Amino acid sequence: MYDRIRIMEKLIISPSILSADFSKLAEEITAVKNAGAQWIHIDVMDGHFVPNITIGVPVVKSLRKATDLILDTHLMIENPEKYIKSFAEAGSDIITFHYEACKDTEHVGNVISMIKDFGKKAGISIKPHTEPKEIFPFLSDVDLILVMTVEPGFGGQEFMHDCALKIPQIKEKAPEALIIQVDGGINNLTSKICTSLGANSLVAGSYIYKSANYEKAIQSLL
Ligand code: DX5
Ligand code: ZN
Repeated sequence: MYDRIRIMEKLIISPSILSADFSKLAEEITAVKNAGAQWIHIDVMDGHFVPNITIGVPVVKSLRKATDLILDTHLMIENPEKYIKSFAEAGSDIITFHYEACKDTEHVGNVISMIKDFGKKAGISIKPHTEPKEIFPFLSDVDLILVMTVEPGFGGQEFMHDCALKIPQIKEKAPEALIIQVDGGINNLTSKICTSLGANSLVAGSYIYKSANYEKAIQSLL
């Protein structure tokens, strides 16, 4: 038990509400908070960058009123620069955008600056086929790197083991304080693969929200 508490201090669990019951989101968030989650992961999809549409700014605004947990916003959208202000003002604490949604390094740098100018934590996410070396130039400029371990777009997909091998490559080059987060197919087994490779934040959607007991599910990730 004490070991688990120690692990939990170092490992941030961010349940993805994509798999929660949307008819009672506030309750679903309180439930994972009581079960030990520190952050709430909000998957924003635009039907262009990914072939799915989910939720947006109004939902973040409502969740901000409903919880004091860190709102970890994962933007799977094109033209992220157009929406940073809205998500920042809605109450996101962390805004993570996709490297692949940017035209060039200047574009990436501009989006990072916008997020920081709003006083928010900035994250860059990479899809399964993006090489870690492409984001090395930004490791000192951001707070978080999100390594996708599935193709972004849907919950409930199978973990891509090869993607996890990017974690130590990023960790080797990263400042000590950088948060390395993984997202996609995380369960009680794949979580261990990722943490042993150096991840310190786990996003889990279906594994937590489709389980009968959120606390047991979160504990089993540690
Ligand atoms: C996928 C999303 C994930 C998704 C994870 O594009 O970014 O956050 O909710 O779902 P699971 O944990 O079910 O793979
Ligand atoms: Zn996500």
